Amino acid sequence: MTNRKIRTVSKVVRGVTTTDGAGVNLKRILGSPELNYLDPFLLLDEFYSENPDDYIAGFPSHPHRGFETVTYLLHGKFRHKDSKGNEGLLTPGSVQWMTAGRGIIHSEMPEMEEGLLWGFQLWVNLPAKLKMVEPNYQAIPSEKIPEVEQDGIMVRIISGEFAGQKGPAQAQFPIIFFDVHLSSKSKFIYPMPQEMNTFCYVYEGSAEFGAGNEIHRGMTGEMLVLENGENIFVTATDIGVKFLFLAGTRLEEPISRGGPFVMNTSGEVRQAFLDYQNGELDK
Ligand code: CO
Repeated sequence: MTNRKIRTVSKVVRGVTTTDGAGVNLKRILGSPELNYLDPFLLLDEFYSENPDDYIAGFPSHPHRGFETVTYLLHGKFRHKDSKGNEGLLTPGSVQWMTAGRGIIHSEMPEMEEGLLWGFQLWVNLPAKLKMVEPNYQAIPSEKIPEVEQDGIMVRIISGEFAGQKGPAQAQFPIIFFDVHLSSKSKFIYPMPQEMNTFCYVYEGSAEFGAGNEIHRGMTGEMLVLENGENIFVTATDIGVKFLFLAGTRLEEPISRGGPFVMNTSGEVRQAFLDYQNGELDK
């Protein structure tokens, strides 16, 4: 690994507090003016609240077209229902990987009236040739997610491969999604293909990203974009760290956003609004 360059932090994103759905308070990390997108990732939200007033109204029926939504829950329960007849209950540690493709209408409602609700929603863009694919829904229970434990590290493999184990999520193109836990001072090292954009989101504790003279200390609530290198190198501080690790192949296509629709052109976004108004979006 001596000749392999270690990726360094090129940008730190702290996110903004906002509301979405029926007034759910959340933190928008990716997908705000601070960082609009990191190809192929369009959005990352963290919802964390012990106050039911912040989350009880949930995300009632709404449409999507042109990308995938990935929900990862740490605490609480969410009921998903969609216009393709899929229904599922997300419980702690589980993942829902939904390909909206040419169109789906779904609701995501908390199924709890008290206690902590904590989780993430990620939007993964689809390339032009896959934007209008048939919708697909993968409900992945916590026990189906492999966990690799070695030398003070624990990696939950949602998508991609680590230490010879593969994650259960079937992405439409290569996406790596791990939940990484490092105990005090332990290290996470991972070889990284150059063509993949990569970031980490620290949701607990802190860690040093990079090595040698180019170290950045990432704190709780920070998204770190990692660039220019073939290895990821993360060392936990004394208090340990938990972070989401995301990497995806760059699509390098034009992006046109309109609310819940993400297409290549504004004409395609207008068409999505028309199809939704005419009841044709999910037909
Ligand atoms: Co949605």
